[in-house]
Amino acid sequence: GKDDRQLIQTILDLKKEKNVYIIAHYYQRESIQDIADFVGDSYSMAVAAQKSPSNTILVAGVDFMAESAAILCPDKTVLSPEPLATCPMANSISAADVLDYKEQHPDSIIVSYVNTPAEIKAVSDICCTSSNAERIIKRFPPEANICFLPDQNLAVNVANRIGRRLDYFTSACPIHAQVTEEDLDAKLQAHPEAMVAVHPECIPEVVSKADYCGSTAGIINFVLNSSAKKFIIATECGVMHAINKANADKKLYLAAEELICPNMKSITLEKILYSIEQMQTVITVPENIRVGAAMALEKMIIYSS
Ligand code: 13P
Ligand code: SF4
Repeated sequence: GKDDRQLIQTILDLKKEKNVYIIAHYYQRESIQDIADFVGDSYSMAVAAQKSPSNTILVAGVDFMAESAAILCPDKTVLSPEPLATCPMANSISAADVLDYKEQHPDSIIVSYVNTPAEIKAVSDICCTSSNAERIIKRFPPEANICFLPDQNLAVNVANRIGRRLDYFTSACPIHAQVTEEDLDAKLQAHPEAMVAVHPECIPEVVSKADYCGSTAGIINFVLNSSAKKFIIATECGVMHAINKANADKKLYLAAEELICPNMKSITLEKILYSIEQMQTVITVPENIRVGAAMALEKMIIYSS
């Protein structure tokens, strides 16, 4: 409505005046994706932070995304409009759990998902995201013992795909893990000609029925580059905005009804305006943790390209 238009204009003016670069995830509200300078999956958000033309970055996403920007860009100011927006899956294990595992498996390589707190990245050998997990794991010799943490679905899906055993911690995304095989079958019955695109945080039974499995950006590219017109999608509903915006005449059906990440959606235009006005909340990572975490993230970026 009109109020939103005014709010958006105020944000756009202020962000220009204060030279703030807004990086948003595809799960953000549509209005937030629309005002962002960059919208991407979690991998490309980290790279966009490094390449940001401005010294002040506002990250519209959950806490680990702002933290990754702060880890990679210690000389930039990284703002979070809602530092309480978190990823429950990322918080399901602690750095102490990882250190215990390392003590018992001293030769293991720790590959941690970017959906982890900085303390876990700091005790990991390398990070990965859903867009590069396969490529990164393939870089290690087949005899190497790899522990992937979290999420167990991504771990098992990658392990199945490359035919390799991986250790993993039990954890899952509460949003993606709720999609069942029955949900998908019901949608396929209603739309038999539809292609199925899923995120690798879904359970392996769902992934095994997919035509495509990949990151949020991967799913969007798959839909836009496919000649098919109908798609069943198993990821958070936010990805539909980028597809719809492209006006490519695609019909999208979510695999389950409530595919909403409440933490992602807790960020609002009002909070973004306040954040830029007050230059708050500045996200910082203690230097002793940041250095180790940066090594794991930078190694991911090198191994991905
Ligand atoms: P992507 O890296 O695919 O954007 O995924 C991030 C995420 O939180 C998925 O739930
Ligand atoms: Fe975390 Fe799942 Fe939300 Fe992604 S969708 S941020 S993995 S809770």
